[in-house]
Amino acid sequence: MTTSKRHYHITTFGCQMNKADSERMAGVLEDMGFEWSEDPNNADVILYNTCTIRDNAEQKVYSYLGRQAKRKHEQPDLTLIVAGCVAQQEGEALLRRVPELDLVMGPQHANRLKDLLESVFEGNQVVATESVHIIEDITQPRRDSKVTAWVNIIYGCNERCTYCVVPNVRGVEQSRTPSAIRAEMEELGRQGYKEITLLGQNIDAYGRDLPGTTAEGRNLHNFTDLLYYVHDVPGIERLRFATSHPRYFTERLIKACAELPKVCKHFHIPFQSGDNELLKAMARGYTHEKYRRIIDTIRRYMPDASISADAIVGFPGETEAQFENTLKLVEDIGFDMLNTAAYSPRPGTPAALWDNQLSEEIKSDRLQRLNHLGNLKVAERSQRYFGRIESVLVEDQNPKDQTQVMGRTGGNRLTFFSGDIKELKGQLVNVKITEVRPFSLTGEPIEVRTKILV
Ligand code: SAH
Ligand code: SF4
Ligand code: F3S
Repeated sequence: MTTSKRHYHITTFGCQMNKADSERMAGVLEDMGFEWSEDPNNADVILYNTCTIRDNAEQKVYSYLGRQAKRKHEQPDLTLIVAGCVAQQEGEALLRRVPELDLVMGPQHANRLKDLLESVFEGNQVVATESVHIIEDITQPRRDSKVTAWVNIIYGCNERCTYCVVPNVRGVEQSRTPSAIRAEMEELGRQGYKEITLLGQNIDAYGRDLPGTTAEGRNLHNFTDLLYYVHDVPGIERLRFATSHPRYFTERLIKACAELPKVCKHFHIPFQSGDNELLKAMARGYTHEKYRRIIDTIRRYMPDASISADAIVGFPGETEAQFENTLKLVEDIGFDMLNTAAYSPRPGTPAALWDNQLSEEIKSDRLQRLNHLGNLKVAERSQRYFGRIESVLVEDQNPKDQTQVMGRTGGNRLTFFSGDIKELKGQLVNVKITEVRPFSLTGEPIEVRTKILV
């Protein structure tokens, strides 16, 4: 028996929601007296916060789990937890697959980790996947960064895109109240955070499940109202948000983003496909023409805005001509960043049952072609930064060069320049861009600003 502190380790897979949940769960564990261990092999509690968006994401989890399950035979007091989306999808079936598990908990239960663990320490094997009303977070998250932070504003998703597991594993939409969101942001401002990313799977749906008024009696029915409401939080210099759904992206929101100086001019708006028939089969609720109009409107108000997106290739029934419509959209719009994926049939989703699935060969061929074009466009878009002065929020040292610091431009390009992290962390620095690469930039610092220019 050792009397030293007990350690925990969390490995996080998947999207920003999972990363935000992991930070909250880490906060709970530290509150319980556990200390972080980078190496899972030195931890007494190991938590895998999992993703099931595509089959390969899910399989990765099983291979990690297998290793730790073996270890548990030599160290029986090791506590093994699977949280997140695979936990929600598989529930009890996970215990049959990996009997060494102590706790299986869906994403809606992240804030209940302490209660669940206490039950585990009493000797129970616990599965928490029932649908619940998400309780307001009362714990302090252990955030990875001291400069940028995520703030959830809406959990779940009410869309029914025919390929997607998220509504099954994250449940129905639950918006946090504007006052709770603002209070968390104010606390972050006090702690010295400079940038906040507001999070939701479909952020434009914010508020549609809320009665609509704040304590001050203001009507805050939607995401645009919320942006105005939280924009002036002291200390916070930059606001970002993700993910936007083209079905709901309004001109009013675009105007607000143009008007509000702290909102970074970067928009992540997945289009998934450039073909109307496929968009219909995906149940996305918009056409490629509507998507293009949104981008045109954004660029009309903010000519330099950077646009990123997600796309899927090889959706069931996708013909070569339909795939070429996706290429055409990418060619025409020129994304600053493009996340691509080959369609992966997911359990419990309609499209997985259709009989017009494409072969892996076709999918990977299309993925390669889309990536090739996407990367060319990203490189092209990067060129516009050359010689310009960009405002960079310094987050860290460059891990590959200790004489340099790194941060992001408003448009979300990673940027390096020489400087001392001790002085510059959390500062907004005007940087003249002298070198341009597809996904990152290098520059020379011109002046340090503590506040954005309004
Ligand atoms: N809420 C966001 C996306 C969430 S999932 C939206 O509506 O756009 C993140 C991305 O994973 C999606 O944009 C999509 O491109 C991809 N994705 C989701 N399900 C997938 C599947 N079954 N196969 C391949 N990619 C998928
Ligand atoms: Fe999935 Fe569609 Fe919801 Fe995005 S909007 S999380 S793709 S169901
Ligand atoms: Fe993955 Fe769950 Fe996010 S399935 S992408 S971690 S919502």
